[in-house]
Amino acid sequence: MTDQGHIKIFPGIEGLSYAAADIFVSLAYHACEVSKHFLVALSGGNTPKRLFHRLVEIDQRIKIPWDGIHVYWVDERNVPPDHPASNYHLANDVLFSQVNMPAENIHRIHGELPIKQAVNSYTDVLKQHASPGLNWPQFDLIFLGLGADGHTASLFPGKISCNEKRRPVIGVTATYEDRPTQRITLTPRLINTARQIVFMVAGKDKARAVTAVLNDPHQPKLLPAQRIEPKDGNIIWLLDQEAAQFINLK
Ligand code: 6PG
Repeated sequence: MTDQGHIKIFPGIEGLSYAAADIFVSLAYHACEVSKHFLVALSGGNTPKRLFHRLVEIDQRIKIPWDGIHVYWVDERNVPPDHPASNYHLANDVLFSQVNMPAENIHRIHGELPIKQAVNSYTDVLKQHASPGLNWPQFDLIFLGLGADGHTASLFPGKISCNEKRRPVIGVTATYEDRPTQRITLTPRLINTARQIVFMVAGKDKARAVTAVLNDPHQPKLLPAQRIEPKDGNIIWLLDQEAAQFINLK
């Protein structure tokens, strides 16, 4: 592994996922000891799949404190929870259905609703669990992915909507690969209050985007991942060698 502080490079997705799982478990144990709960938000897509499998493997050896863990989503496609493109469906199928995760600790985005209702419903759930001084929880950990186009969450290149600056959750219409175009997403306004943000990026198709986000000038309209600038929290980039192949490790 190459370790440049906040950028850690692994031979492949396996090492990256193991590192992500270790961060999850260590932060979860600490948070559950100190504050009795651990608040985490997951991204969708393919990259987190191995992380989910790894968490099941770890849970079979040392019991992860699921009772104190509350899971939310960074974004969701505007589809029902049993749809193959649902981010919730992936995480529940691979991870939460395999461990003793209390159903009441799972706070999915209701992608089955019309998008405005889905946004309002998730905004209300976040408000019900708000941390002091905020209208949403201050997350202990947020996992983010990166698209080949530089998007993260469901924040896509091109424009920064005024709602994105004002609200914790917005609806988005965007085309990316063959994925559903209607999405619900957390905004940087919320994400940037997290204590720990972890980007997980693997594959050569992400190499240009990773380099642009980490090495190019600040251009958040074009590179939404550059909108992620936590106020007091930290960012760690977990990359595989293919995704990291062009970056300049200063
Ligand atoms: C989504 C994700 C999205 C994802 C990136 C990377 O709902 O699609 O939240 O932001 O993290 O598109 O996706 P892959 O991991 O599949 O490359």
